[in-house]
Amino acid sequence: MHKRNYLALLLALFLLLSACSVPKEENPDDAAAAEAESPADIAGTPEEAPEPVEEPEEEPVEEPAAPQYLLPAWDEALPSLWESFDGLFKVGAAVNTDQLKPDTDFYRTVTKHYNVFVTENEMKPMYVNPAEGTFNFTAPDQFVAFGEEVGATLRGHTLIWHSQAPDWWFRGSGENGRATREELLSRMETYITEVMTRYQGRVAVWDVVNEAFSDQGKGLRMEDEGSQYAAIIGDLDGDGNLNDYIEQAFYLADAADPDAQLIINDYSLENGDAKLDSFYESVKGMLEKGVPIDGAGIQAHIQIGWPSVATFEKAIEKLASLKEYNPDFKVQITELDVSIFAWDDQSKIKEMTPQLQAELATRYADLFDMFRRQAEKGNLDMVVTWGVYDGRSWLDNYPVSGRVNAPLLFDRQMNAKPAFWGVVDRTKIPDACAEVQTAQ
Ligand code: G3I
Repeated sequence: MHKRNYLALLLALFLLLSACSVPKEENPDDAAAAEAESPADIAGTPEEAPEPVEEPEEEPVEEPAAPQYLLPAWDEALPSLWESFDGLFKVGAAVNTDQLKPDTDFYRTVTKHYNVFVTENEMKPMYVNPAEGTFNFTAPDQFVAFGEEVGATLRGHTLIWHSQAPDWWFRGSGENGRATREELLSRMETYITEVMTRYQGRVAVWDVVNEAFSDQGKGLRMEDEGSQYAAIIGDLDGDGNLNDYIEQAFYLADAADPDAQLIINDYSLENGDAKLDSFYESVKGMLEKGVPIDGAGIQAHIQIGWPSVATFEKAIEKLASLKEYNPDFKVQITELDVSIFAWDDQSKIKEMTPQLQAELATRYADLFDMFRRQAEKGNLDMVVTWGVYDGRSWLDNYPVSGRVNAPLLFDRQMNAKPAFWGVVDRTKIPDACAEVQTAQ
């Protein structure tokens, strides 16, 4: 090629390349065109559309199902315990005044589920009457104000008990510095009158005498089992038995508030053994004499496998038969809880497997079915659990120190356990247990 022609060709190539290298973004027309090319525009001209880029398929994320059973105790979706038995018997719980602050989950829980309340400790004489002439009503007043505010029935627990009674009651001018009969009777009178008249018409039910019977079924609890009442007061009426301090307590209570329901309360009665027999005989004897006893309280601190519901039911029927002597006589379940440990089990922890949850739920379901039957027969008018949720139960640490128990209807987070469902609708137990398993 001729050198001039060669240079002309190079120049032409240079000009052509320069024209092609204008950056796209610097071409406003191109930018406007790009803006106009929405997917719809492109769809209109399929032959010109770029190949669609295949998006990788996303794994579907499974939303966890909303809980239906393991719900907070105060959740509106839960049936209310007391409403579930309305018209049959009242349902209650033991509480402590530090738990009763309004606008808390605990407050919402207890006002939803219970129409009876009792203080777990704060109305026991050692706290209310710590020294002669000294009465401390701060906590009881708070409790009674709460009960009135929410319109619940209140139980007073307890007036005459060998435990958690002030020591000074039993000291005095008798032999060895012991109280005389007159001193102890006068302290009982002052206490019962002072406390019951203060809450007259406001506390409807009183555990007038608590745990007065021997664990060995040999009649009254005496000094060898920690009670000094019978030894100090003795046989006032000369009828040969030492029930007199109990009789006096009921006469005093009846005088202080004639409309209150007066209960004699004890544990292990549901086991149907010699203790039940001696309790029954003694109460029967007092009723025959006209002592104003309105009912028997079966505490029912029971275990998952003991006693059988049939034995428990027979005990209720036996005590309810005392209405032969007082037509208004009722049985109340006053301190129900169901330990997941057998009495002789020394272990501290037991895993709450779904199987154990189901066992506890079935136990509670059987119990409440039986309570329902007994209420329908007019034998039972109240069932109270000793606490609200597992996180605060006297059965932690007792009878084994460091023990973690799960005896109530709401768990440590205050969620409804399968046991709760066992009480309100036993057909829901399997689904409630399945949900517990998924949550674990
Ligand atoms: O208040 C003190 C606290 O100041 C101290 O630091 C702490 C140290 O131990 O003790 C606290 O007192 C404890 C009290 O409960 C309040 O928590 C006592 O030691 C403890 O013995 C007491 O236990 C109570 C028990 O009665 C006493 O006999 C339980 O909470 C209470 O649930 C239990 O309830 C009884 C019923 O009244 C009658 N039927 C049986 C039932 C279960 O035992």
